[in-house]
Amino acid sequence: MIFEPFSIGDVTFKNRIVRSSIGGRMAYYDGTVNNAWKNFELRFAKTGVSAIVSATLNVNPIRWSPLEYPQISDDKFVPPLREAIAAIQAEDCRYIIQIGDGGSHVQTSLFSQPQDGYGPSPGFDLLYGYRTRRTEMTVADIEQTVHEFGQAARRVRETGADGIEITASKGYLIHQFLNPAINRRRDRYGGSVERRFRLLREVVEEVRRRVGDDFLLGVRISARDRNRLPLNLRWPITWPPRTYLEGNDIGVYARYARWLRDLGVDYLHVSNGYGFINPGETPGRFPIDEARQFANSTRHLSAKAAFRAAIFNVLPRPLLDRIMNIGWTTGEAANLDDARRLRAESGLPVIANGGFQRRSVVQDALASGACDLVSMARPLLANPDLVELFRRGREAPDRPCTLCNRCAMRTTLFPLGCYEPLRFDSSADMEAQILDWSARPDVPEALPWEPAGTAPPPRTGQGEKAFARAPSR
Ligand SMILES: Cc1cc2nc3c(=O)[nH]c(=O)nc-3n(C[C@H](O)[C@H](O)[C@H](O)COP(=O)(O)O)c2cc1C
Repeated sequence: MIFEPFSIGDVTFKNRIVRSSIGGRMAYYDGTVNNAWKNFELRFAKTGVSAIVSATLNVNPIRWSPLEYPQISDDKFVPPLREAIAAIQAEDCRYIIQIGDGGSHVQTSLFSQPQDGYGPSPGFDLLYGYRTRRTEMTVADIEQTVHEFGQAARRVRETGADGIEITASKGYLIHQFLNPAINRRRDRYGGSVERRFRLLREVVEEVRRRVGDDFLLGVRISARDRNRLPLNLRWPITWPPRTYLEGNDIGVYARYARWLRDLGVDYLHVSNGYGFINPGETPGRFPIDEARQFANSTRHLSAKAAFRAAIFNVLPRPLLDRIMNIGWTTGEAANLDDARRLRAESGLPVIANGGFQRRSVVQDALASGACDLVSMARPLLANPDLVELFRRGREAPDRPCTLCNRCAMRTTLFPLGCYEPLRFDSSADMEAQILDWSARPDVPEALPWEPAGTAPPPRTGQGEKAFARAPSR
């Protein structure tokens, strides 16, 4: 079943495996996608996935999440995207652009700015975002956000992409409005299940208006908030405690899924939990070393960020490891049951995600009717040839992804790639793999908007020799 085609509306997926969103620092300083981004995405297209969902492209010109991530907040970003997407589609791979706004979970900035703390209600969150306190958005701010999503949607259509996906998960702005422990508003955007949904409703309506009825429109949605994980300090404590600890449960999200269907959404991309990273969305382990790196790299931005870095630096590593790994699981196909429920309740096609990398698990997920497509991020980063291995009947790669989540945290600071030492014979091998991601020898040409001569130089092997001299583990 993995290699049977599947269609949603006019868009046909040649098989059932989709590359899930992977964001990284692959844009120029202004947010224009660069050659590294093109080569990174092309590599997945060439290795057989049926579609790629882009990183979350930012709709807001101010809230960057993080720096050097691709933007879609201005018309100038369209031509480079269009050229690269055409190259990806030429590999018989569909391209879906995911758009979003980090709201108060914006992780980095050149300088601290109030807009990076914007959310539905004031409050404090130790783990997510760098601003010390969240700032309540005015109705005018919210209307501006809806407008920005609409403009971004128009641009997505102009890029020639096959579809658009709205991020309502990951603890990003729309998710902040959905989550009852975060959204304590009493106006038309908060106070009930219906009113907390209002921002998402308005965004979907505006996006549909801009892209037209014939364009593939999906929503990335969490199946449960599970606010209690990962361990976090969040203020104020809301009442009842169940709301504070759990947020929305699957019952609420099933209602949202039905409402999204009624709004004309074409598919759901199901993840889990609240905040990036969290054990529902990226099941596996909490990466302590990388969390330390990230905390230290943002410590200058606010008192909270400095406090957070101090905690990560002062607590002994084994203790931190124990505390931060509470609730993290290594479960395969971690969100499959929730995907099944949302599919059944909404009747919409569903992309399941989270911890898939064995052939039989993907096969069973599809055959059982829990989902229509399966998306993968970390396992494909670890083994880009995974789809080909499945095609040859292999159950799993020799060195599977360990779901260590180092990549998910490193991506804010370092080039994208697999950072799990256990998967490599030496640090030299690991580094060579990371550097290889963006500079594929088979796609060395400069993008059309770049001046001639900016293509990466041919690979000489000198880099690997230098690594070979570096001490291994
Ligand atoms: C390095 C990295 C970057 C990611 N960036 C995004 C992103 O920009 N938008 C998004 O919705 N999810 C993002 N994710 C989450 C993945 O799309 C996916 O939901 C998650 O990794 C779980 O799937 P997996 O078990 O197949 O890796 C990212 C994950 C990783 C590891």
